[in-house]
Amino acid sequence: MNFFKRKQKTINLSNLPYHTAFIIDGNGRWAKRRGLPRTLGHKQGVVTVKDTIKNCYDLGLKQISFFCFSTENWNRPQDEINALFNMLNDFFVEDLLPYKQKGIKFLVSGDITRLPDNLQNGIKNAVNDTKSCDKMIVNLCINYGGQNEVLQVVNKLIQQQKTTITKHDFEAELYKENLKPIDLVVRTSGETRISNFMLWQLAYAELYFTKTFWPDFNKTELEKAIIDFQGRNRRFGAIK
Ligand code: IPE
Ligand code: MG
Repeated sequence: MNFFKRKQKTINLSNLPYHTAFIIDGNGRWAKRRGLPRTLGHKQGVVTVKDTIKNCYDLGLKQISFFCFSTENWNRPQDEINALFNMLNDFFVEDLLPYKQKGIKFLVSGDITRLPDNLQNGIKNAVNDTKSCDKMIVNLCINYGGQNEVLQVVNKLIQQQKTTITKHDFEAELYKENLKPIDLVVRTSGETRISNFMLWQLAYAELYFTKTFWPDFNKTELEKAIIDFQGRNRRFGAIK
C-alpha cells in the first residue's frame, strides 16, 4: 500500500475551478527592485493581466475576476491613480477585438460613477460590445470594495421595501448577479489578506498565496495555483 500521495504534476482538466479570482499585488515592489517607477510595474501588470486572461481561456476556465482598483486605492498619490486609470482606459479602448473574437465577455464590478468620464465610457462600450459573448467571463473589479457591494445590496433591498430576504434575493442585487461563487482566489506578492475583495462570493473559496510579484505571474505560476487547488479536499462543511 502506498501511504504517500503522489504529487499531481499536471492540471486535471475535469476539475477546474469554475470561478477564479486574482488579487493583483506586487506591481510596485516589482518595479522598485528594478529601480523603475511604480507606474512601470503597473504597466507590466497590465501585460500580465492580458497574458493571464489568455492562459485561463486556453485552459478552459469559465469565469475569472481581477481586483484592479479598490475603494481603498484612492489613498494613493493622484499621479499613480491617474496612471492606473489611463492604463485601464487604453485597455478598454484599444484591445477589445481579439477578446470579442474569442467569445470573452467583460463585466465590471464596482462603483464606476467616481471614475473619469473617458474610463466610464470605455467600460460601458466594452461591456456592451461583448455582452453576447459566451465562452468566458472576465470580471474586472474597479473602484470595488466588498463591504460597499454588500451595503449597496442592502440599500437596494430596503428600497424594494422587503422585510425578509433570501439568499437568492440578496445575490440578485450583487454588482454582477451571474457570477458564480469563487472557487479559487490567488493573491500574489506574499501578502496573505483578502483586503475587502469579493466578501460574499469568497465564502467557500480556496485561498492560494504566492510570493511571486504580479508582473512575474506567468503560465507556470497559474498552473501551480490550479494544481494546488486540485489537491484540496473541498467538503463545504460536510464530512467525507
Ligand atoms: C497592485 O500592486 C496594483 C493594484 C491593483 C492597484 P501594488 O501597487 O499594490 O504593488 P505593491 O504592493 O506596492 O508592491
Ligand atoms: Mg500592494
